[in-house]
Amino acid sequence: MKKGEIFLEIRGVEKSFGSQKVLKGIDLDIHRGETLVLLGGSGGGKSVLMKHMIGLLQPDAGTVTVEGKMISSSSERELTWARRKISMMFQAGALFDSMTVAENIAFPLLEAGIKDRTEIDSRVSEALEIVKLPGQEDKMPADLSGGMRKRVALARAVVERPCCVLYDEPHAGLDPVTGDSIDRLIKSLEEEHGITNVVVTHEIRSVFRIATRIVFMKDGQIYWQGPPAELQESNDPILKNFIEGRAESASSII
Ligand SMILES: Nc1ncnc2c1ncn2[C@@H]1O[C@H](COP(=O)(O)OP(=O)(O)OP(=O)(O)O)[C@@H](O)[C@H]1O
Ligand SMILES: [Mg+2]
Repeated sequence: MKKGEIFLEIRGVEKSFGSQKVLKGIDLDIHRGETLVLLGGSGGGKSVLMKHMIGLLQPDAGTVTVEGKMISSSSERELTWARRKISMMFQAGALFDSMTVAENIAFPLLEAGIKDRTEIDSRVSEALEIVKLPGQEDKMPADLSGGMRKRVALARAVVERPCCVLYDEPHAGLDPVTGDSIDRLIKSLEEEHGITNVVVTHEIRSVFRIATRIVFMKDGQIYWQGPPAELQESNDPILKNFIEGRAESASSII
């Protein structure tokens, strides 16, 4: 498949938890090789939508298709296939504290049934190179800074050589300089490794640095989508409030 083709297709996706309707009919295409940033007020359904992209949640209605194969309401086999192509860096980004950096990163490989020690070691060191933490295999998570922990979580997300990485708030809890370095990593995955990125973030600075396209969610629906320059010039009060950092006060109308 070529850059720019549709990689992941979401059609009419609806999701409720109890009586709360969280996603109210989402249609969205994700193109191969783009960095798509998902914005919107807290509780608007960004994380829930992201979990549908990797089959962690199944829609009540609608479909999710990856490279033309339906992963919503499909068997474990298709889900396993999809999870090799797509990996996710979770909002909490938790590492296993009792395992070394190398063991944390190797975890998805073991889950996938890879047993060859040499192969595992070389894939782990390749992943650490990608996140610019070479040679840190034997450290324990407790001995790492917050930014380094995020990088290790990212190394774990790329160790299976996915073609798409989903990041749920990769900047949360990081100082701006460390946040910048995460942005550079995300961008280098796109530009040097051809990876498709989908990023949920509240960090507006980062949005304009990394996004090739932006999707703004509001009230369980897609409110707006377009390129960063268009968002910057938009006169829509909800979008303006959000990008000018009044996201909190805007959340009452979002
Ligand atoms: N497993 C679940 N069970 C019940 N309710 C859930 C579940 N997951 C999410 N929700 C609810 O769905 C709504 C949307 O949650 P979601 O986590 O997608 O928001 P978000 O847009 O990611 O917000 P934030 O920016 O704060 O991370 C929230 O009201 C949340 O409580
Ligand atoms: Mg979230």
